[in-house]
Amino acid sequence: MPFLSDTLSRVQPSPTIAMTNKAAELKAEGRDIIGLSAGEPDFDTPAHIAEAGRRAIAEGRTRYTAVDGIPELKRAIRAKFARDNDLDYAPSEISVGTGGKQVLYNALMATLNPGDEVIIPAPYWVSYPDMVRLAGGTPVTVACGLDTGFKITPAQLEAAITPATKWFVFNSPSNPTGAGYGWEELAALARVLLRHPHVWVLTDDMYEHLTFGDFRFCTPAQVEPALKPRTLTVNGVSKAYAMTGWRIGYAAGPEPLIRAMAKVQSQSTSNPSSISQWAAVEALDGPQDFIADNNAIFARRRDLVVEGLNACPGVTCPVPDGAFYVYPDISGCIGKTSAGGTAIATDEDFATALLEEEGVAVVFGAAFGLSPNFRVSYATSDAMLSEACVRIRRFCEGLR
Ligand SMILES: Cc1ncc(COP(=O)(O)O)c(C=O)c1O
Repeated sequence: MPFLSDTLSRVQPSPTIAMTNKAAELKAEGRDIIGLSAGEPDFDTPAHIAEAGRRAIAEGRTRYTAVDGIPELKRAIRAKFARDNDLDYAPSEISVGTGGKQVLYNALMATLNPGDEVIIPAPYWVSYPDMVRLAGGTPVTVACGLDTGFKITPAQLEAAITPATKWFVFNSPSNPTGAGYGWEELAALARVLLRHPHVWVLTDDMYEHLTFGDFRFCTPAQVEPALKPRTLTVNGVSKAYAMTGWRIGYAAGPEPLIRAMAKVQSQSTSNPSSISQWAAVEALDGPQDFIADNNAIFARRRDLVVEGLNACPGVTCPVPDGAFYVYPDISGCIGKTSAGGTAIATDEDFATALLEEEGVAVVFGAAFGLSPNFRVSYATSDAMLSEACVRIRRFCEGLR
């Protein structure tokens, strides 16, 4: 009898975390490494939010709480949905977990049965397919390339839906591409979904506040209110509030689903950290102006990286609408050999050779389900990004 479960053999460890660890190892050996693989802002948690955490400790708010969130945080989340998304949810329609990741996991664990299909546009955030598999479902990925701006079209969505489809996973702005769906694009997808009432929408709005220029964020239940009774809107404080380590994510959706998710959480982790919940109340209720300041910095870095990568032979880098990632296409680099003698047959070969020969850590596209590409997280200093672009260009110019 094998000791490890069969389920485990169906999932991969997170490749983004693996790449970040590999870069950290090389750094520890004394190599000069620029890490562009981690998906978190390089800013500190704003002082007023950190202070709310300290206050929670000082005031003894350090005990177990209600499994899926304190009433004060649910109230703040409710106000956030009303303020930002024109969505009205009751507290009983809101769930708080240990990061957006746990909330998504709860939703899939609470709903998937063997044979259930989940449509995931590719490239996707690395965890979606593996979470679906862990929950016993079947991921159905749909390739969305450069030609459609890395976005799923209504025709592609229509073609992917079967009687077994349970969820459509939607993520805008996207990790790994930064592509965002405008109102009309989302409305067109919603029209398809209205024709298939058995399909639920799992929208991951984690990068809602990290958008640039003229792009205006919108979310499915806002664009098509008729979808609200079968939509779970997931969000969190990790990215916009630079709170990745605090581990607070949340979702809003129909009460029976929220109750089922709480049941899963009650038998795994129980409540998310009480201290972090109080800090999240301050994040959502407190001043929001620093988000625009951070976005101005991200926009500048985005432009720097897009320009730097487009100057590399064989690389095409579109301009993203949001998040802090770019996802350049490297078709022009495949089939060549690096200056260090590595044959570049895949984007994984490219990323490995780039790390070994130039000390730049990026994540290869196959990890996100669309190749040949790589993901750069530009949540690091301008100086590091400029140096990384110099090295990537040298690497690409050395390909023969
Ligand atoms: C698209 C997307 N969804 C969800 C998450 C998870 O966020 P959290 O840190 O709140 O668990 C991430 C984090 O990388 C993400 O990129």
